[in-house]
Amino acid sequence: MKRGMNLKVNGLVREVYANPGETLLFCLRERLGLTGAKEGCGDGECGACMVLIDGQPRNSCLVLVGDVENREITTIEGLSADGGLTPLQEAFVAKGAIQCGFCTPGLVVSATALLSRNSNPSEPEIREAIAGNLCRCTGYAKIVEAIRAAACGEQCVREDGPLGTSVARLDAVEKVTGKAQFGADVSRPGQLWGAVVRSTRPHARIVGIDTARALAMPGVAAAVTGAELTPGLYYGVDLYDQQVLARDKVRHVGEPVALVAAETPELAAEAAAAVEVSYEDLPPVHDIDVALAPDAPLVHEDLLKYEAGWNAIREGNACSATYITRGDTDAALAACDRVFTHTFETQIIHQSYIEPHASLAEADADGKVTIWTTNQKPFAVRRYMSHALGWPMTKIRVIGMHIGGGFGGKLEMGLEPFAALLALKSRRPVKMLMSRKEEFQAANPRHASRITVTTGVNRDMKMVARRAEVLLDTGAYSGNGPTAVGLAMFLVTGPYHLDHVDLSGKAVYTNKASSGSCRGPGGPQAVFAGESQIDIIAREMGWDPLAFRLANVVEEGDVLGAGQRLQDVGVRECLEQAAAAVGWGREEEPDEGVGLACSWWT
Ligand code: FES
Ligand code: FES
Repeated sequence: MKRGMNLKVNGLVREVYANPGETLLFCLRERLGLTGAKEGCGDGECGACMVLIDGQPRNSCLVLVGDVENREITTIEGLSADGGLTPLQEAFVAKGAIQCGFCTPGLVVSATALLSRNSNPSEPEIREAIAGNLCRCTGYAKIVEAIRAAACGEQCVREDGPLGTSVARLDAVEKVTGKAQFGADVSRPGQLWGAVVRSTRPHARIVGIDTARALAMPGVAAAVTGAELTPGLYYGVDLYDQQVLARDKVRHVGEPVALVAAETPELAAEAAAAVEVSYEDLPPVHDIDVALAPDAPLVHEDLLKYEAGWNAIREGNACSATYITRGDTDAALAACDRVFTHTFETQIIHQSYIEPHASLAEADADGKVTIWTTNQKPFAVRRYMSHALGWPMTKIRVIGMHIGGGFGGKLEMGLEPFAALLALKSRRPVKMLMSRKEEFQAANPRHASRITVTTGVNRDMKMVARRAEVLLDTGAYSGNGPTAVGLAMFLVTGPYHLDHVDLSGKAVYTNKASSGSCRGPGGPQAVFAGESQIDIIAREMGWDPLAFRLANVVEEGDVLGAGQRLQDVGVRECLEQAAAAVGWGREEEPDEGVGLACSWWT
């Protein structure tokens, strides 16, 4: 039950009308407009919501607002008395301790608390003090350096100069003060909160969806199901195989099947749980082996009917199959002194950006929708929405906010169409956030892979031929699987001169969350396989891994498997310099390992 409360925030007494059982984080952000504290997990794990309570750092997502009446609350917005930067904030800016900036307010708050109790902390003490603040971008070194600099009283001056000068990020000041606006930081008067009803089945026909019970709940304003959307419309990155809401069947646990909007996030979640979906289960396709078996259940029965951005071969559960051959690999392998075959597998990896997906949509009287969102490709989102909903692009305006880490995981459409649909239906602005659980269920992680590599070598250290089969598990929808497979096939040969290559690649549907870009789609999987095998061969043949690579690296004018002629080739020099830098061949220290891998990118 809401009641009036007085909160002492940043030296001022603020009156709020709130539920004492709501979190301090929600109250600060949504009732007082202090959005410097961020919600990364809502669960006490990430530290993005850190504030000071009576001078002590606390995760405000774990504190109930009713418990902090009459306590001194300090947020990032209140750290500087004069509106400028504290020496610590200056140090963060000058030392380059800020990248996406989503974690920055929390880190500054934790470090402020540390410096107030220990003016000269050691590096281990600094690391201990910020251990509860996760940063996905920086690697922490610059953050520790900034805190040390502030502790030592170092005058941190922001440089600004010509090329060659290490300048501060243009947006560093707004990020270090908590003023930078991320997807969830926008609010509109009268806004509702949206929630997604997600499939609980990996593969099933939808028999019926009943929203009546949800809509009867006081405070629930709208519900949307796929049946209300124009049928036959799809979107996708490479292949248009996905609908905004599942209509006839679901293809993974977590797939959106309906939407609700309500007065509070809690009520929206309750309403989503009250939507009744009945299913008729279908045999699930859990992995690549099942998917590629001759009698496998089809994840997409209409695969051959889908429109595509570019044409790839589609067969069974493979939404793209690609083949590249050059030379005569069979004959070359038969003539080699040794032939090695190995299979490498990698797993799904979520990009683990600290900021979850967040969008807010508002419709005007003409039905034109504005969406504030955390997305790496706002223009593509507009195109995808237009494709998937049949709306003209002029009806959709997408405003890209600061992004709290993306790493490729925010390249595809997320909550944008959901917020837009609910805003149109309810005629009120609608804000939506993905929980961390939803992120793991239904975002677009890196593809799991299975890559089999066969390489033929002669005793003179020359690699003669390579055959590779690249299989990427693209999950329920193609996402950028076809592109990722193409990139992986290009990379799996490595930057090595090969006269004979035989490559095949497939992006394979399974009943798992749809995979997507993650820092070089397809690249790490392919390089892990190709380069691991180089090391295995070197070990088996008794060759130095560096010498083996140098004996085979591409040179100026070489032609690759798919026919590209190379120019400006520096891989030999790169390897030699890298080897010199680590003292290749020297005796390793205890607890030290020195390894080498070599790759390239398109
Ligand atoms: Fe509070 Fe992550 S610790 S949002
Ligand atoms: Fe720390 Fe991006 S700068 S999460």
